[in-house]
Amino acid sequence: MNAATFTPKNIIVTGGCGFIGSNFVHHVVREHPEVHVTVLDKLTYAGNPENIAGLPEDRVELVVGDICDADLLDRIVPGHDAIVHYAAESHNDNSIADPRPFLRTNVEGTFQLLEAARRHGVRYHHVSTDEVYGDLALDDPARFTEDTPYHPSSPYSSTKAASDQLVRAWHRTYGVAATISNCSNNYGPYQHVEKFIPRQITNILMGRRPKLYGDGRNVRDWIHTEDHSSAVWEILTRGRLGETYLIGADGERSNIDVLRAILERMGRSSDDFDWVRDRPGHDRRYAIDATKLRRELGWEPAHTDFAAGLDATIAWYREHEEWWRPVKEATEAKYAEQGQ
Ligand code: NAD
Ligand code: TYD
Repeated sequence: MNAATFTPKNIIVTGGCGFIGSNFVHHVVREHPEVHVTVLDKLTYAGNPENIAGLPEDRVELVVGDICDADLLDRIVPGHDAIVHYAAESHNDNSIADPRPFLRTNVEGTFQLLEAARRHGVRYHHVSTDEVYGDLALDDPARFTEDTPYHPSSPYSSTKAASDQLVRAWHRTYGVAATISNCSNNYGPYQHVEKFIPRQITNILMGRRPKLYGDGRNVRDWIHTEDHSSAVWEILTRGRLGETYLIGADGERSNIDVLRAILERMGRSSDDFDWVRDRPGHDRRYAIDATKLRRELGWEPAHTDFAAGLDATIAWYREHEEWWRPVKEATEAKYAEQGQ
């Protein structure tokens, strides 16, 4: 065990203009006033500088650039004490349509960050997903643990699995001071409208019908993004080097149940949606056993009332139409091409 607590002062957050990364930046600014954050983000279709706008300039700096750019990393990493790596191509449906950017950003990008962490002797936290474990049957009592074998299904999850394995190798072979976390499905503010919950909320706000894949019985284990942020902070500062921690908040729900909850809370009837073509290779069920994180680091989620979290998320999209409206049409056009 590394008993010592790591106290970062100056961290790089890659992907800090995306959904989960920007929520983490807000969390750090609010909860850890001694920490300065440098956001490194390429501003792809999924990155929006508005997500971190208004944060104090002396606390947060944005560097627009690519994690695959080794020269850029050599310029910005010195002077920092940790890299917290969120940047990724993150959407399964996009990975099925075109896997190439997933290989580059998720695998090559992680490689470049690990090499930079090695050259400059900085700590590295790797943010990953439970999707590396593949899926579980609906009637299987099992949940994923840190010992579950890797069995990814999609181009997205296989590139995330590859990136996790690079981290383990760089820790063992080169001694990079690294930790890994694998989290379940996040929801909350600033999530791109390509993802399940914001897509359905914004469809309803526009008077369109939500779209449900397959038979709607697939299960995801939902966690509020704020709870993901608090868990990453605990692992970064108190986690054991070389270790993996699963992050989850016991939030298993079928897609149709989530959709019906959204419809009900937005005043629509429970059958006011379209069944659409299923995703190829669609994982059936994800479920996290976060015992290690809870026992070892004493972490507990704070946002366990899913109905309240959904209400707040619906309210956020209602109040931030100027944020999502500009990307909604292009997102839906892409789905329409795929019959979804
Ligand atoms: P997102 O797609 O909303 O954001 C990704 C961010 O990374 C964007 O700001 C984008 O501009 C940036 N980016 C992409 N390629 C880059 C590059 N080459 N260089 C620099 N920046 C680049 O993703 P998200 O949903 O916030 O996910 C963040 C991380 O969390 C990912 O690593 C993902 O695998 C992981 N994760 C996501 C979930 C989820 O439910 N969304 C669950 C568990 C883990
Ligand atoms: P998504 O948000 O893409 O996350 P992930 O694929 O990482 O779990 O999808 C969550 C679930 O919702 C998944 O089972 C696919 C399903 N889904 C729909 O039924 N309709 C949709 O329009 C979308 C985008 C997803």
